[in-house]
Amino acid sequence: MRGEGVYLWDASGKRYLDFSGSAAVNFIGHGVPEIAAAMAAQAQQLEFAHSSQFVTPVAEEYAQELLDFAGENFQDGCVYFTCGGSESIETALKLARQYQVEIGQPKRYQIISRGQSYHGSTLGALSVSGNKRRREMYLPMVREFEHVTFPYCYRCAYDCTDSCRNCGQEYAADLERAIEEANGEAAAFIFEPVSGATLGAVVPPPGYLQSVAETCRRHGVLLIADEVMTGMGRTGRNFAVEHWDVAPDIVVTAKGLSSGYAPLGAVIATKKVTDAIANGSGAFLHGFTYNSHPISLAAGRAVLKHLQREKLVQAADSSQEGSTASRLTQALQSLNTLDTVGEVRGIGLLWGVEFVADKIAKKPFPPEMNFASRVGQAAAARGLLVYPMQGCVDGISGDHLLLAPPAVITTEQIDWAVEQLSAAIEEAGKP
Ligand SMILES: Cc1ncc(COP(=O)(O)O)c(C=O)c1O
Repeated sequence: MRGEGVYLWDASGKRYLDFSGSAAVNFIGHGVPEIAAAMAAQAQQLEFAHSSQFVTPVAEEYAQELLDFAGENFQDGCVYFTCGGSESIETALKLARQYQVEIGQPKRYQIISRGQSYHGSTLGALSVSGNKRRREMYLPMVREFEHVTFPYCYRCAYDCTDSCRNCGQEYAADLERAIEEANGEAAAFIFEPVSGATLGAVVPPPGYLQSVAETCRRHGVLLIADEVMTGMGRTGRNFAVEHWDVAPDIVVTAKGLSSGYAPLGAVIATKKVTDAIANGSGAFLHGFTYNSHPISLAAGRAVLKHLQREKLVQAADSSQEGSTASRLTQALQSLNTLDTVGEVRGIGLLWGVEFVADKIAKKPFPPEMNFASRVGQAAAARGLLVYPMQGCVDGISGDHLLLAPPAVITTEQIDWAVEQLSAAIEEAGKP
């Protein structure tokens, strides 16, 4: 098997266009030689040293570059490197708890999250995730905190007709209610700025995230943005929260961070959070053996350099005329004419296509029909890779696809991919 640009070839030599960046991982394209070279050079210099004994130059330099990339809000903050999204989420949850203890708030331990969310597969991450299918079996093993409602405009609980412009505030108010009911025990609120796999690229209405951020500040609750999927340029901003001018206390990122070239995740914390620990007990009580693994960091650092040099964040900006993302936005609109497509939604290079059995009533397909998987299989047979999911309506029913191509995709490749996807959707609808 091999990869180059937007293509993957399987063991038999069949070529696939990677229209979902695997699982929204690959942002810079497959097979970029300079990333492999940077990893090899690091391996020759130093393959590994434990972070309790040494801070490596690659960790120090890359952390500073990431803080700069994350912007002013993270100036003089710290970066904690892990091997992926779930490890980073665990880290962020514990960091939030330790912060509260360090500032004299030991009662605060609850992490409030949103229903229909996904934050990872480890038990801590599952406890704050709302994805029914991925968590139900493990529920007896996890500590449960409140999951609040969230704006999913296509299926708005308030039946609004203004894309949740007004009722976004009702959803934000639900967080305030949950914090108040937690009775001084809420430590943090975690959210995906744009919903990832569980809902398929649902973009929040204007004002909602700003209100959420303001509510957290007012109540002394840390704001954790899970940008595992949306970070590192995927939505056309370095981090998706920038679309709404929200300044989280902690940002978690992975996937696009290394674009898949090595297992890598990062927790980026503001000075406020890290100072509390530095000026308190002095050490974060947490760690994995492979924190700050030099070869993964060399990969991530080379990816960051590459995406900045090639202006890939700009390519992913769907609001910029002529950008790759604006061409993708335009091309995807043609799917709206299909009888089984309920909504095409998204931002930048992160898009969702929701399927319905009845377009007017927005009625989903019966879950046992596995409609999204059928589309995924029909697309793969045509040489197109997409990311099918189920459960967007209520955690069980509702079929959708996630699309997240590498930012190097060309106009011709976009047109070909959408054509194949359209045909695959029609095929899946046939008995
Ligand atoms: C928003 C979000 N958070 C966390 C995770 C977990 O990341 P990982 O699979 O790297 O552990 C994912 C994975 O899909 C994700 O989309």
